[in-house]
Amino acid sequence: MKKPLILFAVVLLFSACGGKKSGGGTDSTTTTTTTTSTSSETVTTVKDTVGEALIAKNDCLTCHKVDQKIVGPAYNDVADKYKSAGASIVDTLANKVIKGGSGNWGSVAMTPHPSLSTTDAKHMVTYILQLKK
Ligand code: HEC
Repeated sequence: MKKPLILFAVVLLFSACGGKKSGGGTDSTTTTTTTTSTSSETVTTVKDTVGEALIAKNDCLTCHKVDQKIVGPAYNDVADKYKSAGASIVDTLANKVIKGGSGNWGSVAMTPHPSLSTTDAKHMVTYILQLKK
């Protein structure tokens, strides 16, 4: 006798572990670029190069230096002294350069420079007054 084949019903339990993956994909990362505009606050003071050249050409630098007192005051100090003076100081000082004189810095007098034109003297003074410390 043949043994009846016992069929094992293999019940396959499909445990549907249906773990739905949550999360909806990649977040579109929005990169916000903040443009920091560096607005350079340029103080546009155009250097009076005409005045600078004239000073170099004349005898000014025998008595003056930009940052050091020689016979006359340092140009830095002149600029500092008159920094809050009005626009007319250019005329006043140009006149002084032409005529010479003393009294504002001591008893030593500046020699007159009668051959200078008012225009040239003004250029020089403008340059000097720009030499702020
Ligand atoms: C012989 C020397 C000498 C020479 C050269 C000379 N200076 Fe002077 N300078 C002086 C003296 C000294 C003073 C100070 C005068 C005073 O006390 O008022 C002075 C003052 C000045 C001042 C300031 C004036 C004030 O009243 O505050 C200016 C600006 C100046 N000089 C520009 C010039 C220029 C520009 C030249 C060339 C053209 C020149 N100096 C040449 C001696 C000189």
